[in-house]
Amino acid sequence: MSDAGHADPVHDDAPPPPDPFALARAWLPPDDDPERPRVTLSTLGTDGYPDARTVLLSAFDETGFAFHTARSSRKVAELAAVPRASIVVLWPDFSRQLLVRGDVVPDGDAAAAAAWVARPEYLRRLAWLNTEELAGLPQAERVARWAAFSAPERSADSWVGFRLVPREVTFWAAAADTASRRLQYLRTADGWSCRPLPG
Ligand SMILES: Cc1cc2nc3c(=O)[nH]c(=O)nc-3n(C[C@H](O)[C@H](O)[C@H](O)COP(=O)(O)O)c2cc1C
Repeated sequence: MSDAGHADPVHDDAPPPPDPFALARAWLPPDDDPERPRVTLSTLGTDGYPDARTVLLSAFDETGFAFHTARSSRKVAELAAVPRASIVVLWPDFSRQLLVRGDVVPDGDAAAAAAWVARPEYLRRLAWLNTEELAGLPQAERVARWAAFSAPERSADSWVGFRLVPREVTFWAAAADTASRRLQYLRTADGWSCRPLPG
């Protein structure tokens, strides 16, 4: 914590930690916290234009930032074509923004199982029922089908996980009494470099 009263290590005069994970751990909730950060996940659309949507951050550690989704979804096809992505996390409020850019790899089945168990029932149903067919039905029919459906157990065919392996992690922190500031970590051959950037 800075002597100047700023509430964030990004504004601290002390040398930054050697890698971004300690700071990310200080910012983000632990993996077993049911309140998951909402993350803007950007991918490259198969039409060549950027694509983006909100997902929940399932978990993270030194191996990457995990998210989970329906195998039939557009993002899965996009990541199969170009396994690169970025996420932006606005957490816990407008005072902090975390950007991660990197390569995407499949997440392990055990991690997918853990993320599935942690999802509320509504979101589990979504993984099965959020289909083009349902989206095209009249509202009364959509409500009836939703009410009649109970989500089966997770299946690796329907629910998949990915891990974003960072090559850049940038922390943005607001300050009430000076300019916002960023700390940008870039992966190097033997670790991480870190430099401050203007907000
Ligand atoms: C707050 C919020 C959280 C969401 N979390 C997820 C999620 O964790 N996984 C997911 O597949 N979709 C999630 N969605 C739905 C996605 O934003 C998106 O509409 C859906 O995954 C289809 O995206 P795609 O067609 O780009 O693949 C969430 C939406 C909102 C608004």
